[in-house]
Amino acid sequence: MNKTLIIFSLLIFTVLSAKSQKKSPFLWGVATAAYQVEGAYQTDGKGESKWDFLTNKVGITQFTIGEKQTGNVSINMYDRTQYLKDIQLMKELGVNAYRFSLDWSRIIPDGTGNPNEVALKHYEVLIDDLLAAGIEPLVTIYHFDYPAVLLQKGGWGNPEMGNWYFNYAKLVIDRYGKKVKKFITFNEPYIEFFLVENMLNSDPKKPLSKEFYMSQMQKAHSQLMANAKVIKYHHDLKLNSQIGIVLNVNPAGPWDAKKSADVAAAKFQDVLINDLFLDPLYKGQYPKMALDSLAKYNPTFKPSKEDMAFIGSQKPDFLGINFYAPAIVKGEDSAMSLKWLDNNPDADSVKSSVGPVMPEYLYKILMRLKNEYGNPDVIITENGASFKGEDVKINNKINDPLRTDYIKRHIDWALKAKNEGANLHGYVVWSGWDNFEWVSGYTKRLGLIYVDFKTQERTPKQSYYDYQKLIQEHKGL
Ligand code: NOJ
Repeated sequence: MNKTLIIFSLLIFTVLSAKSQKKSPFLWGVATAAYQVEGAYQTDGKGESKWDFLTNKVGITQFTIGEKQTGNVSINMYDRTQYLKDIQLMKELGVNAYRFSLDWSRIIPDGTGNPNEVALKHYEVLIDDLLAAGIEPLVTIYHFDYPAVLLQKGGWGNPEMGNWYFNYAKLVIDRYGKKVKKFITFNEPYIEFFLVENMLNSDPKKPLSKEFYMSQMQKAHSQLMANAKVIKYHHDLKLNSQIGIVLNVNPAGPWDAKKSADVAAAKFQDVLINDLFLDPLYKGQYPKMALDSLAKYNPTFKPSKEDMAFIGSQKPDFLGINFYAPAIVKGEDSAMSLKWLDNNPDADSVKSSVGPVMPEYLYKILMRLKNEYGNPDVIITENGASFKGEDVKINNKINDPLRTDYIKRHIDWALKAKNEGANLHGYVVWSGWDNFEWVSGYTKRLGLIYVDFKTQERTPKQSYYDYQKLIQEHKGL
């Protein structure tokens, strides 16, 4: 080889390897979910969903807010004129990612069977609109909500549910897989099965019964199996796209670190909330401590070796974590009852809507994921809060320093973990906009943008501008 050729080859090699090493930018985002923001509950051939049914026909809010509230109109984000304005607000905010979910009951109104092309097109246009604005869509395929006809068939209690979900997810991946770089199979299975279903089924003031808790395990298992099946399908297509799952992580801490009973209760709680999902996904097994307790209350739950091997073999490309607050527990509480304490001696004295404000636990869970679960790629797919009395509009301004402080401190602790080697790739605030907060209806406003629910007028809160600054300050991460 002559000298020029060698130099030329070296040059090409350097350019190519620099290109392949070019890291994708850190994702800064905001999140929503279909039922909470879309409204338009009977538009374009949408079928009835579980939450349409619950809010309109059952009145789930009777327990919690004493007044019937629904997502029928919500913040009108199905409407393109409206969401284009919202995309503009995201652009001004400076985010490069938007997490939202698809409504299964729009796409396949009967749950199974023929897809609704109008709905498929709607989401395609939304994805294109986001891409045109330079915002990466993080698409949650399923966020607590599914067609009501399937609920009537038992939902996740029906052994067919995993197949119904698979057919829906497959349709979505086939349709959007070339445009969407990040799919999410499920959102917070723990919350779906162990908290929300309990609130819907019994008096939420009563602690969760052990029997109920255990009976939900089979449903969670079916969801994990469906997750693995969809991940495999996605991976077999070899798309230039990733697929992950979102878990709520609530690392547990003892009320009093000097009391061994509190420490033991915290350990148990950690296993029940976090390891219960992390272990099957990353280690192909349920934690022994949880299975032993299960055996006592639900002897019928006996996952097969094949199931576990399958779940463990289909690793998500990234793990989304929703972090709000740790679970602080006392030894004398039955840990199984999941009776979390609102506050803790070390937490801030101000009460948030999401529990004790202790951002150091976000760091702790990120480091646990690094050290105990093989350091997976992680995106913080939700973090945020509301504080009593803050979300009030005075002279067209919303001053919410506690929300800013919450967000800032969580970002600081998250980045500390990143600096110490945790594979963290993004941070997403819940939520961009005030919206329908499930059993709390419209009473809790977690948005960076204030929404007048009557007029649909949007007003960025002070925390919107503060988050904008934080994103600027961390540019180049
Ligand atoms: C988690 C859920 O994914 C989301 O739907 C909910 O609104 C937020 N937490 C806030 O509670």
